[in-house]
Amino acid sequence: FSDFLTDNFGRQHSYLRISLTEKCNLRCQYCMPEEGVLLTPKGDLLTTEEILTLARLFVKEGVDKIRLTGGEPLIRPDVVDIVAQLHQLEGLQTIGVTTNGINLARLLPQLQKAGLTAINISLDTLVPAKFEFIVRRKGFHKVMEGIHKAIELGYSPVKVNCVVMRGLNEDELLDFVALTEGLPLDVRFIEYMPFDGNRWNFKKMVSYKEMLNTVRQRWPELEKLPEEKSSTAKAFKIPGFQGQVSFITSMSEHFCGTCNRLRITADGNLKVCLFGNSEVSLRDHLRAGASEEELLRIIRAAVGRKKRQHAGMFNISQMKNRPMILIGG
Ligand code: GTP
Ligand code: 5AD
Ligand code: SF4
Repeated sequence: FSDFLTDNFGRQHSYLRISLTEKCNLRCQYCMPEEGVLLTPKGDLLTTEEILTLARLFVKEGVDKIRLTGGEPLIRPDVVDIVAQLHQLEGLQTIGVTTNGINLARLLPQLQKAGLTAINISLDTLVPAKFEFIVRRKGFHKVMEGIHKAIELGYSPVKVNCVVMRGLNEDELLDFVALTEGLPLDVRFIEYMPFDGNRWNFKKMVSYKEMLNTVRQRWPELEKLPEEKSSTAKAFKIPGFQGQVSFITSMSEHFCGTCNRLRITADGNLKVCLFGNSEVSLRDHLRAGASEEELLRIIRAAVGRKKRQHAGMFNISQMKNRPMILIGG
């Protein structure tokens, strides 16, 4: 690993999240306001060539994992081609996608052939009518089909991301856990995070401790699994169950100390922290004809501005940030 992507706190950034689009075929309440968001004009979004140029650069400097996000990454028409081209990059070990699952069953065979190695699927409820309320669109059965397709094609574990919101789906925790008995899923309960336009408030957030308690009461034999380096999730398992259950505790116990993540937004900004506003346009420099050295200098400076940790739940809920759909998670 070159020291190039190491920040002032010794964190090596080996994981790059690239947003492929600002658009989505769902309208999840926690991710975007009902009226939608102001979209960047097409000409200001990264082209496929620009995405690949940047990916190549970051991989050369030590990134070994790229996750494609969005918006919904699987609505980008050339997503399979992008995966195939990323697959050519020497040193890149993991190519993942975080998807809402709607197009997954249809595209997964091609994506797998192209080199996709990891899949995270968002699903916040097991009740079809509630699904339509949370995501403001239809599609529950398509998502379930996508989850089953991912299992069938051998992805292991298939991660299911469930954002837990009080009054909405916190009553389904045990049903989600029960799914892991017969399926090799990693169900990941995520603490609800504040972003512009998602009307977050503290009361709607269900903390890790509370969720863990709920699960422990039903399954006291729940076992903690060893921590994976730089993981966002704390993992647990019920002995005898095929899958596992994890918690992403961004709010109550942040994991900034081991953060290894950088982000590129669909409009070409490097964002060094999910809750930081230090963004720099790599797109503008690319288009101005910056040399590789110049680009690296700009990236280096941005990484150098990364804060030790996010500013705390209440501060980040006051700060101006992008809506989640424009960051990519
Ligand atoms: P893996 O690569 O499988 O470990 O997934 P991941 O957790 O890195 O990514 P995913 O897209 O599945 O995101 C799951 C949840 O973790 C989402 O709510 C993300 O917003 C959150 N998350 C991902 N990366 C970060 C991060 O760097 N900081 C914080 N605070 N949350 C993050
Ligand atoms: N809080 C927590 N997680 C969120 N996600 C989207 N919005 C939020 C939020 N406000 C999750 C999605 C997706 C991942 C990229 O981020 O469920 O799985
Ligand atoms: Fe990394 Fe920022 Fe997330 Fe903390 S909040 S884990 S520093 S991206």
